[in-house]
Amino acid sequence: MKEKILVTGGTGYIGSHTTVELQKAGYEVVIIDNLSNSNEAVLDGIEAITGVRPVFVKGDCTDLETLKKLFKENPGIKGIINFAASKAVGESVQKPLLYYRNNLNTLINLLELMPENGVEGIVFSSSCTVYGEPDQNPIDETAPIKPATSPYGNTKQISEEIIEDYVKSGAPIKSILLRYFNPIGAHPSALIGELPLGVPQNLVPYLTQTAAGIRKELTVFGDDYNTPDGSCIRDYIDVVDLAKAHVIAMKRMLENKDTAAVEVFNLGTGNGLSVLQLINAFEEATGVPVPHKIGERRAGDIEKIWADPKKANEVLGWKAEADIKDTMRNAWAWQCKVTEK
Ligand code: UD1
Repeated sequence: MKEKILVTGGTGYIGSHTTVELQKAGYEVVIIDNLSNSNEAVLDGIEAITGVRPVFVKGDCTDLETLKKLFKENPGIKGIINFAASKAVGESVQKPLLYYRNNLNTLINLLELMPENGVEGIVFSSSCTVYGEPDQNPIDETAPIKPATSPYGNTKQISEEIIEDYVKSGAPIKSILLRYFNPIGAHPSALIGELPLGVPQNLVPYLTQTAAGIRKELTVFGDDYNTPDGSCIRDYIDVVDLAKAHVIAMKRMLENKDTAAVEVFNLGTGNGLSVLQLINAFEEATGVPVPHKIGERRAGDIEKIWADPKKANEVLGWKAEADIKDTMRNAWAWQCKVTEK
């Protein structure tokens, strides 16, 4: 058995897939989650895939005492992967303090408790949203950080700065900041996946719910952008590929003594796909039609962004491998499973 890793937000979408990959790589996982956007049954899915049920603490990382108790009761945690955060852009505009409180207090509490508990490294979930509308694509890690257009995006920028300042102050920790592009799909077993509460805001859950007949039709937000087919372009990355990058990042922090205290990596495929191309890929992969119409642009949307993942490819030795059609089939298998229930 390798080291013990704390996964905050571990019953959530990316957290659950990362827990599976950590366990497969031999790590022991402790999860803390307040279940605000997930449920405990996710632990059954994880256990069904790996044969190991992670230790689970129901609790909120904004509460310092809860975290102190967790570290006391689970000695020997060597690394943290921090997924515990609110992530809906629109909601963050309506409830900015909720976003600043959840996302920043969680991070500050974790950082504060790391040295005294012997935790050596933290992987932080950042986002390509820090780049705003890029001046050019693909975009690499040296591109300028643009003013955030939502409180959600701002929490990602501020969090990166908090980590950098803390490390600069001499704190005996390391950190890897992972800037995700657009994570989609589900585990190929269909035992875990994305479980949006209420009406999905993100494209793929809305698309699969439409294909399943739960939603009448998908609205493509704008077809008059400066892109080949007029719809927005994103870099859609399979959630299992994304999860694997976290395991590599953790291993690098804990085992490689010579790496910089803070490193940042883009996690994307390097390929941009438009909304209409994604709908096509889904229909071709599954044979299931997605009723859709063209609607107005969504306020705040970026026109086009895709990653230059060269640094992650070369330095981490990680590469996005999934074929978009397999990813779409996995997303659909998961949707069918959820709809059955
Ligand atoms: C954004 C952020 C990302 C953040 C995520 C959290 C950027 C570049 N990305 O992703 O960092 O983690 O929010 O939610 O700021 N679309 C439709 N119809 C729909 C839903 C979406 O056409 O019903 C389109 C959007 O206009 C967009 C694409 O699908 O072009 C992807 O949208 P979405 O899944 O919401 O993700 P982003 O907005 O790219």
